[in-house]
Amino acid sequence: MQAEFGGQFGDYQNEIYFNGLFGVLPDLPMTYGELEARAAAALPASLLSYVAGGAGDEFTQRANVSAFERWGLVPRMMVGAALRDLSVDLFGLRLPSPLFMAPVGVIGLCAQDGHGDLATARAARRSAVPMVASTLSVDPLEQVAGELGDTPGFFQLYTPKDRALAESLVHRAEKAGFKGIVVTLDTWVTGWRPRDLAASNFPQLRGHCLANYTSDPVFRARLAKAPEEDPRAVVLEWAGVFGHPLTWDDLPWLRSLTDLPIILKGLCHPEDVRRARDGGADAVYCSNHGGRQANGGLAALDALPAVVEAADGLPVLFDSGVRTGADVVKALALGATAVGVGRPYAYGLAVGGEDGVVHVLRSLLAEADLIMAVDGYPTLADLRVEGAIRRN
Ligand SMILES: Cc1cc2nc3c(=O)[nH]c(=O)nc-3n(C[C@H](O)[C@H](O)[C@H](O)COP(=O)(O)O)c2cc1C
Repeated sequence: MQAEFGGQFGDYQNEIYFNGLFGVLPDLPMTYGELEARAAAALPASLLSYVAGGAGDEFTQRANVSAFERWGLVPRMMVGAALRDLSVDLFGLRLPSPLFMAPVGVIGLCAQDGHGDLATARAARRSAVPMVASTLSVDPLEQVAGELGDTPGFFQLYTPKDRALAESLVHRAEKAGFKGIVVTLDTWVTGWRPRDLAASNFPQLRGHCLANYTSDPVFRARLAKAPEEDPRAVVLEWAGVFGHPLTWDDLPWLRSLTDLPIILKGLCHPEDVRRARDGGADAVYCSNHGGRQANGGLAALDALPAVVEAADGLPVLFDSGVRTGADVVKALALGATAVGVGRPYAYGLAVGGEDGVVHVLRSLLAEADLIMAVDGYPTLADLRVEGAIRRN
């Protein structure tokens, strides 16, 4: 798989500067602050509160971001890092970079045409940055997979209470060509989200993003009428079946559902990482859901070093609070195998559609690549040596 843009990721800046010579300035934001502000202007208020908001007074959400300020890379000189290699091996897949798009359940709605899952998949294809497709999507997973081209996609499972429905979703994802199943563990119930409560707004309860359910034979069999004939019944059935409070006793069953890699999302405690390993998970995914689920928790980045240690060589995916290329590099230096973003690409989609997502991903990769060039860390392995990163 290859991105549509060649060369080194940092070359994106040359493209922008050269365009400037012909009077063409970037029309997409170059800083996260501007991206956020323009997305706030572009998105309807209720959707914005759902995407931008988090749990409680959003302490954990802010902590996710500010945690990155406590760490810094130590520059090394005279390394001659003229060529950088950001590629990574994940489950036997050779990816050009360690960046991926975390699952965002309402990504479908963030696009002007209401088909943001498909636009995100196309951006994944163009950038060779994998997409983790959420269970909660406007378009069914088969159509999302169809837009990915050569770029690997992963399917994120919200495990329903009905085991047959879980099995059906996993088998559909397998058949559609997804390369792994990300099982989200921290969201069998929705966290307390004051912004959404104030607007009494929860998109799925208004019938949005349920295509994977309404297109599923097992889900449809649970309904008395076809979904189109009784949309209210769909929502009630969905609300009843949505979240199974999984225990470790369920892991052998989950494991038995597929030969695809299983990635457990939401792990922050080393003991849970060990249990995941022992239970046959193929990777762990350190995340606190971007601070959307439980307020009062530590920043996900603060949990990362212990998670990496407990993973003991098992790949560690990471997200929550990554806003810049510098953040990507820091998470890698702390041992993450791959680094995900949520809100940044959702805002890119809101501001510039598919091109907006590609721009956000290219900007993150360009900054990360140029930091590695300037600081003399030509490969990801170089970043992971003792002394590359220090705490303030
Ligand atoms: C609007 C929104 C919807 C999300 N939906 C899902 C989802 O469907 N499944 C999931 O596992 N995580 C979901 N997440 C969490 C993201 O996968 C990811 O953990 C988080 O966004 C990372 O934090 P960041 O937004 O600070 O980058 C969602 C996040 C946002 C912002």
